[in-house]
Amino acid sequence: MTQKTVHIEFILNNETMVLDIPTRMSALSVIRDVLGLTGTKEGCGVGECGACTIVVDGQAVNACLMFAGQLDGCAVLTVEGLEQKGKLNTLQEKFLDNHAVQCGFCTPGVLMSTHALLEENTNPSDNEIVKALSGNICRCTGYQQIFSSVREACSNKTEDLNG
Ligand code: FES
Ligand code: FES
Repeated sequence: MTQKTVHIEFILNNETMVLDIPTRMSALSVIRDVLGLTGTKEGCGVGECGACTIVVDGQAVNACLMFAGQLDGCAVLTVEGLEQKGKLNTLQEKFLDNHAVQCGFCTPGVLMSTHALLEENTNPSDNEIVKALSGNICRCTGYQQIFSSVREACSNKTEDLNG
């Protein structure tokens, strides 16, 4: 039996992607297995852990819960797209400064959830940061360092805008 396919075109980390993929393939499989961008992790596979978080049209979403076909026409950002001119962005730098990474498995998802928040709101409240992180499970770092990193990245962003 031949597998049904769907044609999709979308922007991934500022590059146009044109693909024919099986209709039931997940966005996570396309990103990791077809396109080889393995920064996005597969943890639970059922929308519980946030390891697979990507940003689609500005919204943080679980790639394991999306069909790849839903990416058609969208602008998609993965952790590989965060660096700017070959350098880590402010949020990534703050994670390093605050030792907010241990095994690193959750880190791409955490970065993408908080990146989406900061793109929408350069100076979120503590509660807004906690809410943005609420879908991301970290088993080893502890959330305080992650929270502090995001808080500091916000201060930097606000200073950039004011300065
Ligand atoms: Fe998608 Fe866990 S792998 S939420
Ligand atoms: Fe290990 Fe978060 S750094 S799960």
